[in-house]
Order: sequence, then structure tokens, then C-alpha cells
Amino acid sequence: MPDRLIHLESVDSTNLHCKREFDSLADGALVYADMQTAGRGRLGRKWLSPPCNFYGSAVFKQCFDGFGATMTLSLAALDVLHELVPEMDVYIKWPNDLFCGRAKLAGMLCEGVLDNHNRLKGVIAGLGVNLNMTGDDLAAIGQAAVSVLSVANRQIMPDFFAEKLAFYLNRRYINYSNSPESVFAEWRDANRLIGRRIKVIGFKGSEEGIFRDVAESGEMLLETAGGIKKINSGDVSIDKGSL
Ligand code: BTN
Repeated sequence: MPDRLIHLESVDSTNLHCKREFDSLADGALVYADMQTAGRGRLGRKWLSPPCNFYGSAVFKQCFDGFGATMTLSLAALDVLHELVPEMDVYIKWPNDLFCGRAKLAGMLCEGVLDNHNRLKGVIAGLGVNLNMTGDDLAAIGQAAVSVLSVANRQIMPDFFAEKLAFYLNRRYINYSNSPESVFAEWRDANRLIGRRIKVIGFKGSEEGIFRDVAESGEMLLETAGGIKKINSGDVSIDKGSL
């Protein structure tokens, strides 16, 4: 039986590692690294990965859509944060960030894994959580970002975070397999921006409107002057005074 929690000292990217090693990794395995030399973010961006945060990827072999993997991993990450730092008020910011106030605490990158016939054989969901970055480190990120240290003045060691995450991930994965609707309902409730006026910037330009809801497929339902639009990716910015 392959290990479910795998630790690496340094790797290019835990997502890339899991894609390369997909066949030998267990369903539900969590691979984490002390640092990444080529950490990747959404929309082709880099993810700074110095050795003080959590960088890990979960392997989903029975969950054939990225949204299911996103919901499972983000709720598991919230479970860990609620247990370890209950004083932090963390919420999900569509599509796959964890925010505290108006700043980013964690991000997720989901990628499909294809077989030789280009059929999806699984999903890798990567998570980076700012644990022990200082204010100066965070300022170098180039967008509003916080860490557990900067908000709660607490240090959480990445190994400890990984052990807790592996536990909750297993629970959430079972939960998702048995009842995807209840996981969706919980994930939706943790999305604090629903009902707010927002702007979404995507590859094709930007849209403004009221974030009305999330469809069960994961798309945002945005009420614009031209009616309800379905948005499947992008960066959301919150209108001043709307949070
Ligand atoms: C984003 O918000 O842009 C997504 C960031 C995802 C970062 C994590 S760190 C672990 C995993 N490995 C990567 O290369 N990226 C993800």
C-alpha cells in the first residue's frame, strides 16, 4: 500500500511531481515539500515557495472533475485552519483562494492528468498556504497577502500542517464520494463574496456585476447589466465597501 503522506525536501513543483508519479501514488495521497524551485500559480503565474510555508498536492483518482477536487481540498484546508487558528476568520474566495479580510492566505491549482488516449484519469489539486512569511516577505508577492504569522502571530510548522491536512483530506474525500451535494452546500456557504458587487478579470477581459451564485459545475453566476453570465475562471476583485 503506497504512503498517503509523502514528504519531499525540495521539488520543482508538487503538482508536477504528482503528475509525473501519478500511477505509483495512492488515491487520496498528499505530497508536500519544504520548498519548490518552480512553484506554479493559476493563470500561468509563479508561486513563490521559500521554506517556511506549506506546499502540497493531493491526488484524486476517483474524482473526475477539478471542481470536486477544489471543494474537497479547500474544505480540508479550512478544517485545519479552524482547528489550529480558530481566531483567524478565513473564507473561500471563488474560484480557489482562501482569504482573510481583503488579502490572500492560500491558493489552489487543479490540473487534470490524462492517459495515453487523452482521457482524464485523475486530478491533482495543489495548495500553497502562507504559514510563516513575515510582513517583508509578503510585501514581495505583489498582491495583498497575509500569513498565519502576520495575522495571528502564531507559527505553524509545515510538517504539522501537512499531518493535519492529510487527516482532514481523507475525511473530506470520503464525504465527497458519498455526498457531493452536501460538500457543495458547505463549500458554497464558505464563499463569502456571494451577493457582493465584484469585478472579474479573465483572459477575455473584465466583467462587473453582482456575484449571484455558483452553479453546481463550479461556474460563477454573475448578474451584469446584460443579464446573468456564467464565468468559469478569472481573478475576482471586491468593490470597495462591499466587504
Ligand atoms: C494560485 O493562487 O495562483 C494557485 C497557487 C497554487 C500553489 C500551489 S503550491 C503547491 C502546488 N504546487 C505548485 O506548483 N502549485 C501548487
